[in-house]
Amino acid sequence: MSGRARFGPVLGIETSCDETSAAVVSGGEVIGHVILSQDAHERFGGVVPEIAARAHLRQLDSVVDAALREADLTAERLAGVGVTAGPGLIGALLVGLNWAKGFAWARDLPLLGVHHMEAHLFANSLESPEAQPPFVALLVSGGHTMLLHAERWGSYQLLGQTRDDAAGEAFDKVARRLGLGYPGGPEIERVGRRGEPGRFRLPRPMLSGRDGPEDPSYFDFSFSGLKTATALLAAELEEGDGSLRAEELPHLAAEFQQAVVDTLVGKVMRAVEWSGCDRVLLGGGVARNGVLRTRLAEALAAGGGSLFAPSPRLAADNAAMVARLAEHRLSLGERSPLDLNADPSFTFPGLRPRTRGAVPGEATRGAPCTPS
Ligand code: KG4
Ligand code: ZN
Repeated sequence: MSGRARFGPVLGIETSCDETSAAVVSGGEVIGHVILSQDAHERFGGVVPEIAARAHLRQLDSVVDAALREADLTAERLAGVGVTAGPGLIGALLVGLNWAKGFAWARDLPLLGVHHMEAHLFANSLESPEAQPPFVALLVSGGHTMLLHAERWGSYQLLGQTRDDAAGEAFDKVARRLGLGYPGGPEIERVGRRGEPGRFRLPRPMLSGRDGPEDPSYFDFSFSGLKTATALLAAELEEGDGSLRAEELPHLAAEFQQAVVDTLVGKVMRAVEWSGCDRVLLGGGVARNGVLRTRLAEALAAGGGSLFAPSPRLAADNAAMVARLAEHRLSLGERSPLDLNADPSFTFPGLRPRTRGAVPGEATRGAPCTPS
């Protein structure tokens, strides 16, 4: 399998948002991995770009040293360097990219700048070697919500994406509105455990039964209206002092979470039917959500499909997935020039728009959904 080609240990660097991370991957296996999550942003209720960039600058040297120590390697033993070149926060990206360029140049190592969202696709293969294309992937993070069909590594069809807020962003904003902490996803999940979805009723956006695959937005998402509906419901339930009654909060959190999960699962199942491929891969910080994982696994199991869901550490931002993707591409002979620049709106390599088709199974007819 080309994805497992032997290349030699690759150092990966990830600094696109608020995690400073370095990892060493060798032969598809993680041999050193350090993630330092910046908690300085919590009191601002979101990531402050300037604080993130400065923290990466302070921490990156020691994070790389720790990853190399864990891998029991010196820098001389490395065969290449991979780094997230975009998308992400420009200041944060520049710290990691320039660090990686200097490191690679000084040691005459090949460099590869990778796309952060493509790296999320590779995270599962570090834990489940069979998590190789073809598959349907749902990538859900603080900045992205994407549904795609991967035929091979490097060849992806974009089925749907969000029209407004990303799924994680909706969790974060709703949590803030409900007076919960940041990041909002884990907070909503924690509080929602004590609540009952259905006690209140929120909309399931863009899941109308009348839609069909000929509709250009059949696989798209929208969370902005759901966020507003949640805020309006919260306003109705508030006491005079502007706080939610303690017994209402868990029910509201549980219903919001359920509405997001129903939408995500509904769209994934549409993609499974349309593509004829029932191997599904999850990625991104929202993939940590237990209700999403359980519901998706149940929906797939009912039809004999399978789910690849990364462990919490590999679901969120991390350098192991960056090193894994870089190892794959470096082993195919790809290299980035040393004048590579960080690009906050880096185009996803190999991603093309959906081939319109109203017929379920059309995408993969004649091509079985099994890895080659
Ligand atoms: O992939 P990620 O670590 O960073 C990027 O945005 O690239 O994703 C972070 C997002 C945040 O919006 C956070 O609220 C969400 O993932 N998240 C969750 C959970 N854990 C993290 N959302 C729902 N449930 C969770 N348990
Ligand atoms: Zn991410």
